[in-house]
Order: sequence, then C-alpha cells, then structure tokens
Amino acid sequence: MFEIKAKDMRGRVGVLKTKHGNVKTPALMPVIHPRKQVIDVKKYGADIVITNAYLIYKDDDLKQKAVEEGLHKLINFDGPVMTDSGSFQLSVYGDVDITNKEVIEFQELIGTDIGTSLDIPTAPFVEREKVESDLEITLERAKEAVEFKKEQNIEMLLNSVVQGSTFMDLRQECASELSKLDADLYPIGAVVPLMESYHYKELVDVVMNSMMNLPDNTARHLMGAGHPMIFALAVAMGCDLFDSAAYILYAEDDRLLSTRGTFKLENLQEMPCSCEVCSKYTPDDLRAMPKDERRDLIAQHNLYVSFAELRLIRQAIYEGSLMELVEERCRAHPALLDAVRQLANYNDDFEKYDPRSKKSAFFYTGSESLNRSEVLRHHEKLRERPKKRDLIVLPPTRKPYSKFFSGKLGEFFIYGDSHEIDTDNADFMVLDVPFALIPLDIDELYPLSQSAAPKIRDSESVNFIRDFFEDFAENYDGVIVQKKVADILNLDLENKFEGEVIYAKDDVKKIKAIADYQFGWGAGEALFKGNIKIEKSKKTGKIRHIYDGKTLIVNMRASDSYLVLSKEGARRLHKAMPYPQNRVVVNEDSEPFALDGKSIFSKFVIECDENIRSNDEVIIVNRDDKLLAYGKSLLSAVEINNFQTGQAIKTRKGFKK
Ligand code: GUN
Ligand code: ZN
Repeated sequence: MFEIKAKDMRGRVGVLKTKHGNVKTPALMPVIHPRKQVIDVKKYGADIVITNAYLIYKDDDLKQKAVEEGLHKLINFDGPVMTDSGSFQLSVYGDVDITNKEVIEFQELIGTDIGTSLDIPTAPFVEREKVESDLEITLERAKEAVEFKKEQNIEMLLNSVVQGSTFMDLRQECASELSKLDADLYPIGAVVPLMESYHYKELVDVVMNSMMNLPDNTARHLMGAGHPMIFALAVAMGCDLFDSAAYILYAEDDRLLSTRGTFKLENLQEMPCSCEVCSKYTPDDLRAMPKDERRDLIAQHNLYVSFAELRLIRQAIYEGSLMELVEERCRAHPALLDAVRQLANYNDDFEKYDPRSKKSAFFYTGSESLNRSEVLRHHEKLRERPKKRDLIVLPPTRKPYSKFFSGKLGEFFIYGDSHEIDTDNADFMVLDVPFALIPLDIDELYPLSQSAAPKIRDSESVNFIRDFFEDFAENYDGVIVQKKVADILNLDLENKFEGEVIYAKDDVKKIKAIADYQFGWGAGEALFKGNIKIEKSKKTGKIRHIYDGKTLIVNMRASDSYLVLSKEGARRLHKAMPYPQNRVVVNEDSEPFALDGKSIFSKFVIECDENIRSNDEVIIVNRDDKLLAYGKSLLSAVEINNFQTGQAIKTRKGFKK
C-alpha cells in the first residue's frame, strides 16, 4: 500500500497505492465540496483529493447519485479519493446521525478509495477526563471499523485517526493502540485549532508523540493542514499527506497563501509569486474583478504555491537537504521558529531515522542547526572513540582540513595544567562550528567536510563548541591549542607551549581511523593487515582502493569517503567484529538468496545491529552468524525491524561457493 523511495530526517518520498492509481507522497489532497465545488483541482496539479462522505450521506440528491454512479463520478475526479466520516461535523455540532458502521459501509458502497471511521476530534487544552472518555470511543470505533472491514471483505483502505488532544501520554497510547490494528493509514487528528492559533510548538509535541508510536511503513496524514508554510516541518516529522480546504476558504476571503505566510489582497502592491495568475494580473486587476472570478484565480494561486512547495520538499528529500528547508521556512514566523527549536527535544528519535550520508552538504543556518542529528551522532562517536594521551587543537581552514595541515603548525598555548606534550601520542583535531572537534584523520567523512557554516560566528555556536571542547579536554593528560583556537573560544591562555608541533600525514593511520569510526573500534586493525597498498586517484589525489597485496579489501567512496567493502573486506570485518556489530541476520528461507547475492527484503530479517543507518555498509549473516553476503543498507535499524514489505539491504555479493 505504501512504499518508501527516499528519506531524509523522518521525511519520506513514497508511493501510496490505491485502486484508482498511485500517488507520490508527500501529497496534498485538496478538499472537494460535493455540491459547491467550482475549481477543477486536477487541472492545477492534484493527484488525490478528499471529500466528506457525511455531507453526501445527509443530502438525498447527492446520496442517490453517489450510490448509483459512484463517488468519482459525483465529484468528477477519476483519481484516488479519500473521504472523511463526519467527525468534523461531530466536533462542531456535537452530534451526527450516522453510526460508525453505517459510515464505513456507506463509504465502501460509493467506492471511496480511503475511508475514515467516526473518530472524536477532541480540542486542545481541554480537561483530561473528557479527553480520556473521547479517546475510549475513538479507539473502540477504530477497532470496530477494522473488524467490520475484515468481516465484510471491504476493499476500501481505512484511516484510523490518532486523537488524545494535548496530553502527550494519551497521544502515545492512542497511536500504539491503533498500531496494533494494522489499519491502512494513520491520520493525526484535531490539530487544526493548534495551527489556527499558531501553537506550532505544541503541534510538534502532538505530532511527534503520535508519530513515534506509529508504524513506519504506513502513510500518515496531518488532518486539516493546508498551509504551505508548515509542510516542510510536518514532512520532516514524518507526515506524508495533507489536506487543504485552505486554498478555497482563503480565496473566498481574498487571502493568498505563501510559504512566508498569508497575504491579504487589500494590502498587496505586488503579486507574491510567479504562477500563471500572479504573472498575468496585478493586485488592482484582481480587486476590480467580480467576486467569483477573483476567488477562482486566488484559489488557483493557492493551489499552485501548495503543490510547488511539495515538489520542493520531495526534491529536498532526494538530495538530503530537508532540514535546511525546514530551518529556512520556519524563519517565516517566530512561532514556527519555536517549532524548530522544539524539534530538538526529539533529537534521539530523529537520529535513528536520518541517513548517515546525504547527497547535499550540511549547512549551518543558525543555532538551531546545532541540534541536528549529524552533530549529535558525531559527538557520540567522538565520546566512544579511544583517546590518545594528549590533545592538539587546530583552527579551521578550508575543507577538507587535513589537506591544509602538515609539517610545523605554528604557535600553541597550554590549556589547563602544564604538561609535556607528546605529539606522537596525541589526537589532532580541528575546532569548528558546528561539529566542535573534528579529528584530522577522519575529516573527509560526510558531513565533516561536506558542511559549511558562516565565517562570522554567532555566540550560541561559540558557546556550544566551547562547552564541548571543555568537556572533551577532560579526557586528556595534556591539551594544547593553537593561538587562533584560543581567540575563537575567547580563552585567556598565558602559557605558551615551547615545543614544536608537527603533523605528519599517514595514510595507513587515516584509513584505520576511518574504518574504526565507520565500523566500530578495532575494525581498522582487522581490515588493514598484511601488505597494505593504497591506490589514489591520479586526478584528485584522494584514496580510491585499498589492497592487501593484490587482494582488494575496500574502495573509498569519492562522495563521502566512507569505505565500501569487497568480499575480502566483508570476511575480515565479520571475523574481527563481535556479533551483532554491522550485522543483518536473515532467516533460513532467505539464506540461499543471500548466498546468491540477491537483495534482502525486510520481512526476512530476524534482527540487526541497532546502529545501522541507511547507506551503511553491512554484512549479512544467518542465525549462527555464518557470513552469507554483504551490501548496503537502504533503511535504518528501526525501519528494518518495522517494515514487512520492500527491500532492506541492497546486496553486493553473496558467499556462494
Ligand atoms: N479533519 C480535521 N481534523 C480532523 C479529525 O481530527 N478527525 C477527522 N475525522 N477529520 C478531521
Ligand atoms: Zn501566484
């Protein structure tokens, strides 16, 4: 039903499969009014729409036409159609005259592609007792709907809506209970009041607490979210679908949507974008038009900017720049900036999903970037990394730093207690924003070199790298810092270091350090033993292939400097690194396929190393840790464990004799 094609943060480009065709996600479903619709949304880019089954049910003419000719004919749309159940009417009027089963049956009868059970949207910030009693009914009805669907062999896909108001434990509970039902899609409900009142920080909490308890292989819909300003943020949290009545409601009110907020026509001197409408008309032209004509043109603009934003988001996911886009978009309003800052509370969770290596560079766009997974992940690796006796800290240069340091390195000051520094027993690290300390021997790995920050540093980032440095320096007997480092950190150091600091480049040390960082401590020694030969690119001078004599052990990927295993590399890694490091364990049935070099599907994986992230090199073993194959993971460990369909590992080769 839902297949993931590309990922960044928790965001996904996916394909949602329905009986009226496939939809590329993240997608926007314009809301179609079954009677009053005036805009042909398909013409402006809609691949899927949403309408209200309850409104059709309540209107004799509409109902008759829908039953006789089908929903798609009724609303004149031949692609996938989702229907809502009347829950919104329930939340406004307090009551609806349809039961849960009736509305499911009706939606199936009129040929809906994706139907919804009769959940109770509980408003934000209401007392707990009410939330609990509403939630009980929502859960009962979701269960009833799923059972009813099974009993009646209903074909229609089914939404189970997450409720729980602003009680995070109730959102969590609701999401985990619904997950057990195996519904087809999981919308997150009752968020419209949060968005209308600019409670974006609370929106982040509600979405994340729901999301963290929903299955990863199912589409999630942020119900009632139709403003393009929040699409990027919502996608980064894992939302795949949006619906918009905003395009027409705002148009009726002479308001134009944009990713920077909303413009009132009465205040416009200039049209805000380059769509057909904005290119052809001036604000005065629009103001002079009859109401209906003007409304339709503004609606067209509103749809255009919404679909354009989704294209941009999907592209950002493909290239790995979704967080840069989120950080940019969230500068449109202080309440959105709060939302990005609130994301930092869910760092550990994002880290589990974020790919290890991306096509685009990491851009520091402001202090919010200090909280990104890439930074967190690097710091964890640094803390785990075995330390030399002393630490020598260098200032940033152009990247890759290691290219610009060699030989004598200038004037140094002693940090902390004075000490004899042994440059042969020291870690050489560069101090920079945002990664704080970057060991010179691994600096070419993504994103340490594939990143950029402004030359004029803000105080948050300086405080951040200083805190990390001060804490990290505790691990060493002696620490010296180059003069520029002391200046950046505003350290008042008086004792000049009298010895000479020399950095001698050593390719073997470098590849071992990279292997340790990538595969775990000790991997470098195990992989690179014997008669090591390093072959470099004639053009760039970068390491490309590493051999033991004539046997290839690994290649180094040019784009991110990660090591790519050969057959011998996989063998050595397997032998040296203890279970479960770098392992994906497959069941007996898939053993012959793995040996044959066939790709591994998630459902055949019994367990895997929890540190696996997408794009990681992995070894594939059976239950007895026999090496079967090796390849590249397409998913992270949590996703491999969660998914029941689709590929998990792109196998490179199997070990069939
Ligand atoms: N539309 C907007 N919010 C909601 C919600 O919470 N539930 C349903 N069914 N529809 C909605
Ligand atoms: Zn426009």
